[in-house]
Amino acid sequence: MYRLSKPLFGVYIHWPYCLSKCPYCDFFSQVNRSMDENEILKCYQRDILFFARLKKSYPPITSLFFGGGTPSLMSAETVAKVLMTLQDWFAFDEKPEMTIEANPDAINREKMQAFRAAGINRLSMGIQALNEADLRFLGRRHTVETALIRLEEAKQIFPKVNADFIYARPHQTPAAWKKELMQILSLNLTHYSLYQLTIEENTPFYRKQVEVPDEETARTFYLMTNKIMRQADCPPYEISNYAQEGYQCVHNLTYWYGYDYLGIGPAAQGRIGLTATENPRSVAAWIKQAPVCVSLTKQEKTEEKILTGLRLMQEGFPASLLSSKGIDTAIRYGWGFLKDGLFYPTEEGTLVLNRLILTVLPDEKE
Ligand SMILES: C[S@@+](CC[C@H](N)C(=O)[O-])C[C@H]1O[C@@H](n2cnc3c(N)ncnc32)[C@H](O)[C@@H]1O
Ligand code: SF4
Repeated sequence: MYRLSKPLFGVYIHWPYCLSKCPYCDFFSQVNRSMDENEILKCYQRDILFFARLKKSYPPITSLFFGGGTPSLMSAETVAKVLMTLQDWFAFDEKPEMTIEANPDAINREKMQAFRAAGINRLSMGIQALNEADLRFLGRRHTVETALIRLEEAKQIFPKVNADFIYARPHQTPAAWKKELMQILSLNLTHYSLYQLTIEENTPFYRKQVEVPDEETARTFYLMTNKIMRQADCPPYEISNYAQEGYQCVHNLTYWYGYDYLGIGPAAQGRIGLTATENPRSVAAWIKQAPVCVSLTKQEKTEEKILTGLRLMQEGFPASLLSSKGIDTAIRYGWGFLKDGLFYPTEEGTLVLNRLILTVLPDEKE
């Protein structure tokens, strides 16, 4: 498991545009470019300056994540300029992890090389499926072939590469997914994000009432996926994230361990101690305003830490921060166990994470 030798401190930068909108996706992104890239860069820089002035000192930046949307549509010059502005105001760790998300149809070898030259050292590619029919169903613009070519190029250019997949699709059987997962593993990546399809409100899939597998089938899918990934030495370190030893995503760990991070760009959120920052979920509104600060109470902060911390299945969570009555109940249900003062969720607990969290959440008095 990833062992922490220092505090983590991350920076998230949100790019709000995509070439088209996938019918399952509720991430904040739009197709029409309402704003020129230079304008966006200026506002990224404004957000960076806002954070630089918010607090006297910060730990060195250990990770940076360009997410979206489809940030591979950004020019490498913009990425380089964002990095330079951050370097003007913040210290960087010796070897920060710097990720950019990409779609196979919104990047090519030259663009990858340009991102690499700008300092990006991890590429996260959204593939979603390895068969044409499901790619079309998911509204993806690329073919399996393009995805595979782009991944091979990415592996040659970046030290770390992740691929996202969506499974438990309508009509997909566990046997079909097992076959696809074997193909996925033959891609020989060091990190995979494997998400079960969720139907989000305000998406075309929701309006079309697309059906996902029932709870029991979802459970079969999940347990099978974990087993296969463990056998391939790429175990889950979070509910939907799998990595070879040493390749866990530092940026995501920053969120899940409850460390501070800056949120730059529209819809981005940040956390600096007991201050939460929020940016509007609209490019036009974000252009006009710097991040807004909201104070969290200690109780709210602890609740957040529990919510995120319990996602890391292999990391124990300090039992002293949880309800002892709740822990007893969770253990009785087979949802977790205690070891050396830490509470570990079991796979069964992870399957009902929301119920588990409600069970172990302490009352304010506790
Ligand atoms: C921020 S999205 C961006 C990635 C990139 N734009 C792309 O589509 O390739 C990150 C990932 O979330 C996952 N995702 C988004 N909506 C989902 C949903 N409704 N159910 C399951 N996974 C979802 C997809 O795997 C996607 O690649
Ligand atoms: S899945 Fe990716 S490409 Fe599709 S709409 Fe969401 S962010 Fe855009």
